Amino acid sequence: MADLRTDFLGIRSPNPFWLASAPPTDRKTNVLRAFKAGWGGVVWKTLGEEGPPVVNVSGPRYGAIHGPDRRLMGFNNIELITDRPLELNLQEIAEVKKLYPDRALVASIMVPCDEDSWKRILPRVEATGCDGVELNFGCPHGMSERGMGSAVGQVPEYIEMVARWCKAFTRLPVIVKLTPNITDIRHPARAAKRGGADAVSLINTINSIVSVDLDRMAPAPHVDGRGTHGGYCGPAVKPIALSMTSEIARDPETRGMPISAIGGITTWRDAAEFIALGAGTVQVCTAAMTYGFKVVDEMVTGLSTFMDAKGYRTIEDFRGLAVPNVTDWQYLNLNYVAKARIDQDLCISCGRCHIACEDTSHQAITATVDGRRRFVVKDDECVGCNLCVEICPVENCITLEHRTVGTDPRTGQPYAQPYANWTQHPNNPASSAGRAAE
Ligand SMILES: Cc1cc2nc3c(=O)[nH]c(=O)nc-3n(C[C@H](O)[C@H](O)[C@H](O)COP(=O)(O)O)c2cc1C
Ligand code: SF4
Ligand code: SF4
Repeated sequence: MADLRTDFLGIRSPNPFWLASAPPTDRKTNVLRAFKAGWGGVVWKTLGEEGPPVVNVSGPRYGAIHGPDRRLMGFNNIELITDRPLELNLQEIAEVKKLYPDRALVASIMVPCDEDSWKRILPRVEATGCDGVELNFGCPHGMSERGMGSAVGQVPEYIEMVARWCKAFTRLPVIVKLTPNITDIRHPARAAKRGGADAVSLINTINSIVSVDLDRMAPAPHVDGRGTHGGYCGPAVKPIALSMTSEIARDPETRGMPISAIGGITTWRDAAEFIALGAGTVQVCTAAMTYGFKVVDEMVTGLSTFMDAKGYRTIEDFRGLAVPNVTDWQYLNLNYVAKARIDQDLCISCGRCHIACEDTSHQAITATVDGRRRFVVKDDECVGCNLCVEICPVENCITLEHRTVGTDPRTGQPYAQPYANWTQHPNNPASSAGRAAE
């Protein structure tokens, strides 16, 4: 039986599934229910500074993109940090930690970007007995207009400066939560490391307008007729989060830095993918908001079953195993040849593969053979692009086959050739073969 326990910066949890800082972790009643349901940890809804709490809109604060079956694909919010008093949150954090000492309890914090604000709040947070702090440099709406959240996360120098203050003012592990609203995620991650942060978590939400109400001529959701950009999350953002996680995991400057991965995690498989790319824990928000806390059951059981099937005893056994296989385009094997193949027994003759390949790829799928409606791949045209595989409505009906025996009728070259990439290719003016050809 797989052991799902994690030790992230010395913060122990019975499984890697933490709830991300958001409404599910907003208050004691929620967090107790979450722990009862089996979550390994939580990052408390972001705390602000002492004083009158922030005020949220009382109208719609969420929007969404749905798939054709009404399944929620992307989620958008214009919510601010906690709108409850700091003292109440601190008191509840302390109470929850006492009741559940075996779970991870991290406090998320966002205060103004000056040293005194951080100096004031950190000892109070530490006094709750929580396990760590997460610096929210990510929220892209509302708070960023006040110089916090992503306004800090978009300036590596600020990240480094605040991380350094926090390391000086608390003994707790410091996790820097990164905004994806930046060109190259490696720069803020490197800054966090330079500032002494113990780990990074990512991603926070992505700047977004999910739709426009064409009757009101306003972004949706709108409050009294006007809308604003919000933060996008949920299954739709997972690919962006995976890519950013991999960039940090393989960057020589941040390699080995602990990562708590966030973004669209809905199933055990999503979590396993992030762990394979180096994440030590994963955080979940939208899936819990969509399906409730019990969604963690599937995550725990699924991950455990997967690990048993693969012979991984602990999370560490497979953490980061996919990282060495993430590379730059220039190192891909240009001599690898794959061709599409259609399983005629599964094909329902819808013709989508033909029209997609005919109109937008390489005209490599027949529509008729001997006058009969039949879809067959023409090896002499197919470049193995995978388009037909992805758009075919029947799963596994079209597959890509790696060819190793014989000659490619498209290029006239033998299929079996040694690995060669763009840096070695004669068409590349910068390669030695390219320079020789000039
Ligand atoms: C309604 C809502 C409120 C959020 N509030 C916070 C917050 O206070 N602090 C924070 O760091 N992230 C906040 N987030 C971002 C989430 O913690 C998480 O980074 C993001 O939703 C991506 O994860 P997901 O795809 O699992 O939802 C919020 C997200 C949502 C949907
Ligand atoms: S898209 Fe799939 S099911 Fe439709 S014709 Fe092509 S192979 Fe057959
Ligand atoms: S893999 Fe690409 S080129 Fe080959 S048949 Fe499919 S769509 Fe056409």
